[in-house]
This record gives sequence, structure tokens and C-alpha cells, in this order.
Amino acid sequence: MRIGILCSRIRAEEKLLFSELERRNLDYVKIDDREQIFELHHYAYPYDVIVERCIQHSRALYMLKILNDAGVPTVNTYHVALTCGDKFLTTQALIHAGVATPRCLLAFTPESALAAIEQLGYPVVLKPVVGSWGRMVSKINDRDAAEAVLEHRDVLGSYQHAIFYIQEYIEKPGRDIRTFVVVDECIAGIYRSSAHWITNTARGGTATNCPITPAIADLSLRAAQAVGGGIVAIDLLETEDGRLLVNEVNYTMEFRNSIDTTGVNIPGRIIDYVIAVGKNV
Ligand SMILES: Nc1ncnc2c1ncn2[C@@H]1O[C@H](COP(=O)(O)OP(=O)(O)O)[C@@H](O)[C@H]1O
Ligand SMILES: [Mg+2]
Repeated sequence: MRIGILCSRIRAEEKLLFSELERRNLDYVKIDDREQIFELHHYAYPYDVIVERCIQHSRALYMLKILNDAGVPTVNTYHVALTCGDKFLTTQALIHAGVATPRCLLAFTPESALAAIEQLGYPVVLKPVVGSWGRMVSKINDRDAAEAVLEHRDVLGSYQHAIFYIQEYIEKPGRDIRTFVVVDECIAGIYRSSAHWITNTARGGTATNCPITPAIADLSLRAAQAVGGGIVAIDLLETEDGRLLVNEVNYTMEFRNSIDTTGVNIPGRIIDYVIAVGKNV
């Protein structure tokens, strides 16, 4: 089987995937996105399956589009990456699939964003629609803070920052839940706990095992299905009144902190699926 791995800088996750492939004596080719040139009219991609592990969403998206259009199967697909890479598109997919997600308002100017924030009521969370590791995810507690953040975005921001994605703030119990879904199975989950309201492990949140209850599994699978399936990681928020909401869905997830914590061989499960896709089963 001809396996290609789209990557850039090699992180712990890519090393774990390479080890898993080597353990099974499977050959693979690293395709470094920094070195690629795509001749769009004349193409030949001699792969049975491609694993996408890029760091930059835009590069991942374009390469997945090129490969899928050429008939090469990818994990994940262009469609899944497109939806999950953008919090607005993810939210739309969740809403239209009837999956519970925090109340969310969208606006395009600082003035309408301020009105939207006041309509929602403080505190709110303002996020860039594209991004990860909790970067620029902002909790706004009052009008002064709202005006300051909106002005900074207006003056310093790029095009992307002219899209104001505003979510209700969920009073969660010092943690959120990150689950891992492979197609139709919720294989593992962690609690990410932090004294800070942003609980990403990249921001200092600590990972402990989260038992997969039927409710967690059901919501995770429905969220995964809503964005198009494949291998995804779901961020869940627990509300004070005991509900679970899907915050976002990630498509090229990190998992280094979740293997020992959960006892699940996540890279092994990923490679199992990659092989199944490559064999077209
Ligand atoms: N609406 C919210 N209410 C409470 N906490 C939130 C909310 N949105 C995000 N968070 C916290 O911030 C973290 C990062 O936000 P997230 O939307 O997952 O962005 P990223 O893509 O950067 O991970 C979440 O894991 C969660 O701990
Ligand atoms: Mg997240």
C-alpha cells in the first residue's frame, strides 16, 4: 500500500504515527508542505491513501482539495477539513444536524458586533473563526472590554478578524471534555482541567481520563457525523444544569497527552483506519 503523510514541522503526534507504521512494516512517504509544487493541470499522485498532518489549515485545505479532486482518498477529507477548520462552518453544520452547541452570534462590523455582544449578555466569548490552541479566544466580561477588543481587532486585525464569532460563555466546572472519534466509534476521552477558563493542554490544561458515558459517546458521534465523519476530536462543554454542548470539532488533532491518560493506542487506531481507507473497505 502506498501511504503518503502530508506534514510540515514534525511534532510528537507525527512521530507516533511514523512509529506505528514502522512497527507494522508499512512503507510511507513524508510529503513536506514546505517543499511541494503542484502542477495543477498535469498531475499524478501515486498514493492509495494520504494522511493529512499539516500545521497550517490553509495548506492542508488546498492540498486535500487537489488530492481529493484527483481521486486520492485522504484522512481526513477536504470536506471535513473545510468544515472543521472554520468555527462558523462547524457551528452551522452542528446546528443543522440538531447537535447541541452554545448559542452563537455572527457579525461583520465592530458596531454590529458590540450590539450582538450586548444582545447576548456578558460574559461572552469572541473567537477567530480559524485558529487553535486557544489563541485569541477572548472572554469579554463587560462593555469596556468589548469596546477595547473590538477596536484592536478593527485597527490591527486582518480580513479574518472582520468576522465576529460570538458565543455565550458556558460556566463549566473547571474543565472541558475532549473526545476522539474514529468514524462510528468514540474511542477515548479526556478531561482538560485548568484554573484558567481556557483549558487547552497547549495552554497548560492537564489531561485526565474521561470515562465515555453513553451521552458523551452519542453526542460525540453525532458531532462527528455532522461535519462529515473520519477521525475527529470533539470539544464538549458541561453546563451548570447538567447538559453537554459541542464547542468545536478538530480535524488534525493532537493526541500526545491522551494515550497514557486513556490507555487507548490512538495512533494505532488512526493507522487502522488509514489502512482501511487505503484498501477501500
Ligand atoms: N463558550 C465557551 N464557554 C466556556 N469556555 C469556552 C468557550 N469557548 C471556549 N472555551 C474554552 O476555551 C478553550 C478554547 O476554545 P476553542 O473554541 O476550543 O478554541 P481552539 O480552537 O483554540 O481550541 C476551550 O477548550 C474551552 O476551555
Ligand atoms: Mg478547542
